[in-house]
Amino acid sequence: MTSIKKATQIAHLLVSQVLQPGDLAVDATAGNGMDSVFLAGQVGPKGQVYTFDIQEEALTLTASKLKEHNMGQQVTLIRDGHEKLSDYINEPVTAFMYNLGYLPGGGSRITTRLDTTLRSIQQALVLLKMGGIITVIMYPGHREGKVEKDGLLPVFNSLPTTQFVALHYNYLNKSNDPPELVVVQKVSSE
Ligand SMILES: C[S@@+](CC[C@H](N)C(=O)[O-])C[C@H]1O[C@@H](n2cnc3c(N)ncnc32)[C@H](O)[C@@H]1O
Repeated sequence: MTSIKKATQIAHLLVSQVLQPGDLAVDATAGNGMDSVFLAGQVGPKGQVYTFDIQEEALTLTASKLKEHNMGQQVTLIRDGHEKLSDYINEPVTAFMYNLGYLPGGGSRITTRLDTTLRSIQQALVLLKMGGIITVIMYPGHREGKVEKDGLLPVFNSLPTTQFVALHYNYLNKSNDPPELVVVQKVSSE
């Protein structure tokens, strides 16, 4: 049985439907490296993953996880904010994954923030390949996460329906502001 207990598992399930061997993908928030390992497995040795994080600790954790899985070769680790992704990437990307918030186990001082997340997603929408998807997991259970969710949802809500399909996944039977997942697919270039 494929587990869909966690928002991250649902995101992986959806990305796995579109991301193929040889494709280009972006992990916009390296964290512990779980998404990078997943993306690297999907694109295979002929594909490419760009992984961003502003914390050295996150990139070190991600590098060691990739090494464990023998997947280091197809992943480029970038210590920079994802709001600068257009400085590094100028070709169509099949999947972008954003897992917002702070590094699990790393303290909550360094977290993603609405202004930089928004700037990054605006660039991702442009770089997204036709048929490609963006997944964004938001954590409204902490203060900055609520600010992010409240600022991001109107942007997703107003995406042109001719160009994008946008879906919002919520837990119905979980308490304490559980994570929420938004998925955007580009369906037309105009
Ligand atoms: C919830 S964690 C990501 C979890 C990760 N995807 C995983 O699979 O373990 C969020 C990460 O975003 C990073 N971050 C915060 N602001 C960022 C920014 N502007 N650009 C890139 N990463 C950022 C944090 O340092 C933290 O490691």
